[in-house]
Parts: sequence; structure tokens; C-alpha cells
Amino acid sequence: MRALEWVAASDSAAATAASATAAHATTATPSTTEGSLRLLDQRLLPGRTDYIDCTSAADVATAITDMVVRGAPAIGIAAAYGAAFAVRDAYRAHGHAWRTALTADWTLLERSRPTAVNLAWALARCKKLAESVPDDADPWPLLLAEAHAVHAEDIAANRRMGRSGAALIQAGSGVLTHCNTGSLATGGLGTALGVIRTAWADGRLSRVFADETRPWLQGARLTAWELAADGIPVELLADGAAAALMRSGAVQWAIVGADRIAANGDVANKIGTYAVALAARAHNVRFMVVAPTSTIDLETASGEQIPIEHRDAAEVLYAGGQRIAPEGTQVGAWNPVFDVTPAEWVDVLVTERGVVQQPDAASLARLFEA
Ligand code: MRU
Repeated sequence: MRALEWVAASDSAAATAASATAAHATTATPSTTEGSLRLLDQRLLPGRTDYIDCTSAADVATAITDMVVRGAPAIGIAAAYGAAFAVRDAYRAHGHAWRTALTADWTLLERSRPTAVNLAWALARCKKLAESVPDDADPWPLLLAEAHAVHAEDIAANRRMGRSGAALIQAGSGVLTHCNTGSLATGGLGTALGVIRTAWADGRLSRVFADETRPWLQGARLTAWELAADGIPVELLADGAAAALMRSGAVQWAIVGADRIAANGDVANKIGTYAVALAARAHNVRFMVVAPTSTIDLETASGEQIPIEHRDAAEVLYAGGQRIAPEGTQVGAWNPVFDVTPAEWVDVLVTERGVVQQPDAASLARLFEA
């Protein structure tokens, strides 16, 4: 399955058929310049497999805000296509004065979700390219090619991280993961789930556990769906059961992704990750974070400065469209959708550039110098 793909206008029908059958694309789909960004609507999984075609920056921004597409690297890839659409539409409306007409679309994309830094990273990369386009050139093919490149690089990074992370896991280990970090959250195999897929294929894993990940249920709805499709047995647990699972001795590793890693190594990830890290240290379970370097934000000094998204109270007060809390204005909800795990609780960070044991400011700076 793919979270997103470029569908050329001419082969839209063929691409739909291909996306239904091809697991884990080996390359992003380069194509002609007319087409759309096709997103698998993750709000409907696992019950329904529906797609939404985006053809403008506003379409992409709405899809990100509404979580049609989610997961830090997938958000970054989608934003790169959104930036290309913004440039195309500004050029078509204003000709060579296109640069001054970009602002509204750019702002929509920038504000679509706050925590995953891959979004800002992708926009900054596209902006840098846009600034270098000669005044007499059509910028659209160049920006579209950049979006394809962002997509293809993420696929390659997933593969490298999968191999490096799996190599750290001793044969016979049980693993616990949180949220969804697989093909639905990235361009390829996934980050933490890419490590789990690779370690499973290597025969290293005895059992795979996934937190259901309240309130949006990324673990139950998405991770279990992906693993089942791959034939990897998975045992779901309520988030509150994670500490007891670790105490039972069934898992040796907790493996998670990240939405933003600050310069000092603090990790923002799906709400509940911090509790997993604390319980892991208490039970001698190793805690691995798997993230491409596009998730590392050297501009943000520590986790304290990472913007944490709060979403609608309805996500907590309802489950599957059904109210689960008493009615009435007295009952509200606190719904931060990410938390920050201080770097001291992270045993190992796996990136496409290499593995960092006990990440901190100095080791992250070295990673970028290499
Ligand atoms: O709110 P979401 O579903 O976008 O949150 C996703 C996560 O927190 C993932 O763990 C993170 O993006 C890493 S995904 C490779």
C-alpha cells in the first residue's frame, strides 16, 4: 500500500490499478507534468480504501490538516507536491511575476499542521529551488521534479534505516511499537515499522506488539492493517497496558518514529511515546527512535520549543462516531496529539545517515557534519 503517489493525467486508471497491488514501491513515480497527487484516505481505514486526488496547494493543505495523509515524512512529501502546485498556479496566473503571488498558498501549507518538521523542511527545500529558477523559465517542471526527488529520497532512506535498525536487534526479541510509522506514514517501508519489517524478514523477531494509540487509533487501524497485509502477526494492546507488557518480559525493544527531533536530541512523537520511554527504562527495555534526518530540527534547541498540536476534543469524547463520555458542557477533553521524550530516555537513534547511540547535541551536530 502507498500513502501517496503522483498520478499522471494520461495514466490515471492504470495507476489506480497499480496502487492496489504494488506493495512498497521501489521508486517514486516520475511522470509527465500534468497529473495529481493521489492520497489514500487514512481516516477511513481499515474499513474502506478510498483515494483523494489533490491538484492544488489548498487541496494538499486541507488533506494534511484533516489527516487524510499523516505521519511526518508523508506530510513532508505531500507538502513538496503542494509547493509545486502553488508555484505552477502562480506562474500560470501571473507569468514571470509568479514569485510575488505565492504567499497565500505557501501560508496555507505552512499552517496545515505544526509539529512534524518534515513539512517545514520540505517547504524550505522547495523555496530554495524556487529562488534559483531563472526569471525567464517555467518553474513548474523543476518544482515537480523536486517533489518526486523528496519522495524518492524518503523511500531510499526508509530502506537504509530498516537495515541499520534491524541489525541492532538480537534474534528472538519481542518488540513494541506506538502509532503508525509504516508505508502509510512515509514514502516507502516506514521508519520504526521499516525496522520491524526488516527484522521480521531477517527472522530476528519473536513477537510484534502495537499500542492501539488512542485517540486516533493509528496503531489499531493503520499499523495492524499494514502488518496483517504483510503477513506479520501483530498483537494489539491498550496504551495503558504497555508498562505491564514490558514487565512481563515479552519485549526487549520499544521502537518508535518521530515528528521532530530538537538539536539536543529531545523527541516529539505521538502522544503516549513519552510514557513508553519511561516504562522502557524502568524495565530494561531498549528504546529506539527511527527517523530520517529531515525530522531533525537543528534550529530548535530543545523539546521545550517544539510546537505541540492540540486537536478537537471530539477525538477523545467520541470513538468510532459514538459518544463515549457523558453529554454536557461540564465534560471537556485535553487532547495534545504529541508529547516530548527527553533525549536522556533514548537509547539509540537510527537515521539514514547512521546510528547514534544516546543522542545529544554533540552527536546530532556530528551527524550533519558527516
Ligand atoms: O498525528 P500523526 O498520525 O500524523 O502522528 C504520526 C506520528 O506521530 C508518527 O509516529 C511519526 O510521524 C513518525 S512516522 C514515520
